[in-house]
Amino acid sequence: MAGIYIHVPFCRKKCSYCDFYSVGEAKMDNHFTDFVLKELSLRNPLIADRIVKTIYFGGGTPSLLPTGNIKRIISGLGDFFGVDPNAEITIEVNPDDVTLELAEQYQAIGVNRVSIGIQSFNNDELIFLGRRHDVDKAVEAIRIFRKAGIANISIDLIYGLPHSTLKSWEHSLNVAFGLDIQHLSCYHLTYEEGTPLTRRVAKGTVIPLDEELSKAQFDLLCEMSKNYGFIHYEISNLAKPGYISKHNSGYWLGEEYLGLGPSAHSFNRSMRWWNPSSITGWEKEVDSANFPKNMEAIGEVTRFNELLITRLRTMWGVNLEEVANGFSPEIYNRLRKKIIPFTASGKMVMENNILKIPPSYYFISDSIVAELLMV
Ligand SMILES: C[S@@+](CC[C@H](N)C(=O)[O-])C[C@H]1O[C@@H](n2cnc3c(N)ncnc32)[C@H](O)[C@@H]1O
Ligand code: SF4
Repeated sequence: MAGIYIHVPFCRKKCSYCDFYSVGEAKMDNHFTDFVLKELSLRNPLIADRIVKTIYFGGGTPSLLPTGNIKRIISGLGDFFGVDPNAEITIEVNPDDVTLELAEQYQAIGVNRVSIGIQSFNNDELIFLGRRHDVDKAVEAIRIFRKAGIANISIDLIYGLPHSTLKSWEHSLNVAFGLDIQHLSCYHLTYEEGTPLTRRVAKGTVIPLDEELSKAQFDLLCEMSKNYGFIHYEISNLAKPGYISKHNSGYWLGEEYLGLGPSAHSFNRSMRWWNPSSITGWEKEVDSANFPKNMEAIGEVTRFNELLITRLRTMWGVNLEEVANGFSPEIYNRLRKKIIPFTASGKMVMENNILKIPPSYYFISDSIVAELLMV
């Protein structure tokens, strides 16, 4: 199964915390789509798996790209790949772009999943984050998609926000679970270099939330999601049964993907490559028709490290038989030895030879995985 990611690098207003590559929407026109299609025609041979099972428009703000352009890209994919008739086709949307007309257009061109960047159901937190929407608009966006017949709705929330409390987070979760959503992504706020938010922290005008409180918010998420019947399948991702994101699961399960657009990453099992985080840099590279400039061949150590980094944050875990069969005996034996203190303390569990981190320890999964990686 192959996945296609299209990075749509436009935002109407930059949020204070975000470092995903984007520029103002003024630059958006058919020209961007022409280049995406050109890149597709050049790079598609790098993907061996010819059946596309998922298409994901991410950003930036894909909901600013006129639907006609989204449609051109979806049908352009069919010129080079076999697109599964049941392919999962997702678009990330900002709540304030959502109208019934837009939702119906998406439904008509085959989009069957939306991921809405809501971030919080508390208006003061939305203002703090510099969002364009308020809580009412967020709730309305969900209702509009439902009305237009889009049956697979995901929303994004951020926890660990400065000034947030356990109560304010509980409120966001209560509203989220009370709405008819199928999937929930909850990200811990990260302070990315170069963002206005991080500069405010450096100046001392914003104080990051206490780590203990962030952890308590994560624990609350684990508990409430279970009560509402959601599967916590990855550290930041939860879904009702039948609605686990096929596209994102592809990243964690080592499937091939082709990324189109500036800053997009690609993977074909033997190498990774990534596009410049600049529209002009990306266009230049596509125009020169060269093999991707930024690339990394994947050797055994990288492959092993990536297996741990991607799988141990998921409910699928790492099958030790796969490690025994796919890696040298030194790598396998080293891993068996390294996991002993973690399985003894319950931070990792072994079920049918599959090594996992239980969801209650996902919050510290980075530090556990770091101990197992090969340097
Ligand atoms: C690439 S953004 C695009 C979504 C869409 N443009 C929006 O803002 O609604 C995807 C998600 O990443 C998350 N995100 C971005 N920056 C983050 C940060 N610094 N910390 C935590 N989550 C972040 C937000 O939840 C956001 O909805
Ligand atoms: S969070 Fe979304 S809207 Fe805000 S800057 Fe990032 S990509 Fe743009």
